[in-house]
Amino acid sequence: MKKYYIKTFGCQMNVYDSHRVAGILQSLGWSEAATLKQADLVIFNTCHIREKATEKLFSDLGRVYLLKQERAIEGKKTVIGVLGCVVQAEDEQIAKRAPYVDFALGPLTYYRLPEILEKIARKSGDTIIETDFPAESKFDFLPQNKSEGGCSYLAIQEGCNNFCTYCVVPYTRGIETSRPIEDVLAEAKKLVAEGTLEINLLGQNVNSYHGEDKNGKERDLAYLLRKLDEIDGLKRIRYTTSYPADVTDDLIRCHAEITKLMPYLHLPIQSGSDAVLRAMNRRHDVAKYLDVIYRLKEANPEIGFSSDFIVGFPGESDKDFEDTLNLVDKVKFIQAFSFKYSRRPGTPAAVMPNQVEEKVKEKRLEILQNKLFDYQLKFNQQTVGKTVEVLFEGKGRHAGQLTGRTPYMQNLYAKADKGLLNKIIRVKVEEATMNSLSGTIVEG
Ligand code: SAH
Ligand code: SF4
Ligand code: F3S
Repeated sequence: MKKYYIKTFGCQMNVYDSHRVAGILQSLGWSEAATLKQADLVIFNTCHIREKATEKLFSDLGRVYLLKQERAIEGKKTVIGVLGCVVQAEDEQIAKRAPYVDFALGPLTYYRLPEILEKIARKSGDTIIETDFPAESKFDFLPQNKSEGGCSYLAIQEGCNNFCTYCVVPYTRGIETSRPIEDVLAEAKKLVAEGTLEINLLGQNVNSYHGEDKNGKERDLAYLLRKLDEIDGLKRIRYTTSYPADVTDDLIRCHAEITKLMPYLHLPIQSGSDAVLRAMNRRHDVAKYLDVIYRLKEANPEIGFSSDFIVGFPGESDKDFEDTLNLVDKVKFIQAFSFKYSRRPGTPAAVMPNQVEEKVKEKRLEILQNKLFDYQLKFNQQTVGKTVEVLFEGKGRHAGQLTGRTPYMQNLYAKADKGLLNKIIRVKVEEATMNSLSGTIVEG
């Protein structure tokens, strides 16, 4: 049996895509290699969101090329492929700098893998590159998705029409497309039948979902959530990532009405300054964002929020940055991701005047992260002494331990029998750090 090895960078959508690629390969009779050295096919699924990703890719590729040469001495062939968002932006670079790469496919074309592998098996040659945005949907050509265990991702929407001035996603994933309601429900039911208890709906802009139902009528995310709620055996529903301006009243009502919907929402704001948000081309200001937050809290007082932040966007002043700190104090995010602004070629912000000095960005990031980490730690500490429901997903760091997620996406470690994997179990929380909780299983 031939073996594959996939290394994944970037967001959850890439993790999902890699899982679907593994599904294609398994349907062709391939199996997963335990180590890189054993792999007859090595795939990098890449991310282009911030700088350095490309350089990292080329150094990884260089290493795999050496491996390919070593294996060739043993008479073994190694096929090397690159997938994902870097391909969409750097296809020519890949062919020029790493001609030994056998294929490079963008995020929307990886369903063509079977015919491409066949072509390569017949005759290796130049790098095969496919970066078009096909009219057909890749989902119509993929083998059915398989459950990943207790927790599965399910892509419902892809691409983005927002064109934030710093971001490459609209160029790498194309414009927004939504999968039909019936396709999503069929995939969800299959995942649940195979043991999935929690589904995390994915989309670059998941709350602008507008899939067609069987009568050809466009339906939104709130409609889809209510349909998913009806699936017996499905215990937890999440969706990520949402765009604040597209949070509808009905979606907010879902957080009051659907108990399967976890009390946690990732809602990126990027900056607490209206001037910066305008320059970023975000379709919301701080007041609008806070309004959404307060209304969601009203719908479900237990809800906790996470967010994304960019510091050092071109033109960001000390005052703008202070506004971001103030916003954090208002919302008290329970988790957050924060980044230094990274200049992406081809995006409008890359050529804006008043680029912020690297040193200033570093300092601001440190200050912001200290604040964010503080709130995260405080929230985790408040969990100590409480009993929480944990979906165990994997082995812990120590023998006899399992790790899982609480409703708030906190990582929790507990001494637990392997038999509790992929189950939701009540755990009493005993200790908390910024990154994780630990506790003991509650009997019954
Ligand atoms: N709406 C998207 C965001 C994708 S990118 C989603 O669904 O996931 C994830 C985060 O990366 C963004 O929210 C933003 O905070 C950050 N990001 C995007 N482009 C960036 C850039 N050029 N520099 C720094 N951070 C960036
Ligand atoms: Fe990028 Fe903005 Fe679209 Fe998110 S909403 S993917 S940050 S362009
Ligand atoms: Fe990266 Fe593409 Fe996701 S650029 S963040 S892998 S959409």
